[in-house]
Amino acid sequence: MVGNLATTTPDFSLEDLPGTSGRIDILCRCINSAFVLSHGIRRDVQIYLILRGGGAPKTVRLQGRDLRHLNPDERTTAALLKKALALEADFAWTKSTPGISVRAGDLADLPIRAEGRTYYLREDGSDHRGLPLAGDGTFVLGDHIGLSEEDEAFLAGLGAEIVSVGPKSLHADHCIVLLNNELDRREGPSHPAGGRERATKGDE
Ligand SMILES: C[S@@+](CC[C@H](N)C(=O)[O-])C[C@H]1O[C@@H](n2cnc3c(N)ncnc32)[C@H](O)[C@@H]1O
Repeated sequence: MVGNLATTTPDFSLEDLPGTSGRIDILCRCINSAFVLSHGIRRDVQIYLILRGGGAPKTVRLQGRDLRHLNPDERTTAALLKKALALEADFAWTKSTPGISVRAGDLADLPIRAEGRTYYLREDGSDHRGLPLAGDGTFVLGDHIGLSEEDEAFLAGLGAEIVSVGPKSLHADHCIVLLNNELDRREGPSHPAGGRERATKGDE
């Protein structure tokens, strides 16, 4: 998830996220859509947030496998990102709270897998419903600004498929909900908890 203006420093206000953080509120909603189930967390999801709003870009990684303290509200999520952004970031991952790490780096530094497993979400792409999506694929989305020509060239170089989740331009977090739903449906009803992961004690 690319945050073109998202601040790379922790000096934003939790009282006014949209006005002070370069739209970290958008990233928080994407985190919510990526991970939060009715009674649990999607443990098999990872999200990489690319923050480009000041100085060298940073990447914050959230791994569902280890994630703790994630609540559905934006403020708590933003507070977790604030903690991560307060850490020194070099090119190695630095652990913040459980499941959240930070490092220096941009989209091109991510461990994105090549052709057949990488999807660039764009309104004019091929309908995702007709495609054999890899459940363990990488899905790249933009914020309110979208992706730059350089980003698009990078993804094209990887052989990323351009995929649409429907005919209207949606918010990125809503696209994530639709994608998760599509992948859930393809997995079928074999999971008795009704999701890709049973709720574990403490997940709410
Ligand atoms: C609010 S939209 C960006 C709008 C921005 N003005 C632009 O032109 O890119 C945020 C992101 O959601 C994704 N998106 C929105 N609608 C989509 C759709 N129907 N299909 C696939 N991706 C979509 C794209 O990745 C987009 O960058």
